[in-house]
Amino acid sequence: MLPVKATVERLPGLDEGFIKPLPAMEPEQFEQWAALLKQRTGMRLPDNRMSFLVTNLGMRMRELGIVDFQAYYDYVTSGREGVVEWGHLVHHLTVHETRFLRHESVLALILQHCLPANPADCPTEPLGIDVWSVGCSTGEEPYSVAMAIDDRMRQLDAPYFLGMMASDISRAALATGRVGTYSHEKVRDIGPRWLKHYFTETDTGRFQVSETLRKRVCFNHLNILQVGDAPIGKMDIILCLNLLIYFDREQRIQIANTLAGHLQPGGMLILGVGELLNWEHPHMKRFPYANTLAFQHQ
Ligand SMILES: C[S@@+](CC[C@H](N)C(=O)[O-])C[C@H]1O[C@@H](n2cnc3c(N)ncnc32)[C@H](O)[C@@H]1O
Repeated sequence: MLPVKATVERLPGLDEGFIKPLPAMEPEQFEQWAALLKQRTGMRLPDNRMSFLVTNLGMRMRELGIVDFQAYYDYVTSGREGVVEWGHLVHHLTVHETRFLRHESVLALILQHCLPANPADCPTEPLGIDVWSVGCSTGEEPYSVAMAIDDRMRQLDAPYFLGMMASDISRAALATGRVGTYSHEKVRDIGPRWLKHYFTETDTGRFQVSETLRKRVCFNHLNILQVGDAPIGKMDIILCLNLLIYFDREQRIQIANTLAGHLQPGGMLILGVGELLNWEHPHMKRFPYANTLAFQHQ
């Protein structure tokens, strides 16, 4: 835990009472923060996102009692404490919007084209299925896919192994996913059959993902720009949804190329619709399916 008081006392720009509103952000300061965000996460911050930046930096600065954007920038960019602080800040600066069953057409594609449809299609050995949800946020996406796969395989009464890797740059989002307890509002799109089978209602009226499902999903901290360093095997399905929108085209292509390199032959890369136009890769072929942007490894 960050020793907030001790750290803050050393910082220039500290206002002991810190009730004062934060000063306006100068355009040069915006540029400086936008460059840092781009360098460390790949995310673009267009000029019209100044208020987003000010609001979200401000929330964290108020927690720390810092009233000066430059002092906070210097803090975040220096020393070990800065590294720890960046880990907190990145959660405030990234968008975590997600929900269960958000991508129905993606689930339909997986069920129709990546899984056996009837018992005669099932291999004699248990089927191994490796899936990676890139930018998984608070876990709703990987749990949705895991439920869809499990439901199909149980209906077929076919043994299978599911390895679901779920990665994100935000440790706070990953922690929520690992706990796997969601509000009533969050699970409202899940039908009663799945809700009964995959969740338990807690004493406080929240919904806990079943132990069996949670054990299948492995949450990992990973910056998509640093995938090259990570020991990741070959996947059957990679989902990268609502993440590339935050990157420029060059980085989108670089990320898609990297992800393509982590697919088995025949594996499927599924991106958000419209998130990467005219992408070409020697081993990837567009897989046409309604309301999806999918590519199959040849
Ligand atoms: C809008 S959410 C998408 C969640 C989910 N894929 C969906 O479609 O519902 C985007 C997620 O990408 C994560 N993210 C942003 N930049 C990232 C990066 N450089 N590496 C890994 N994850 C990143 C954010 O923390 C956030 O949780």
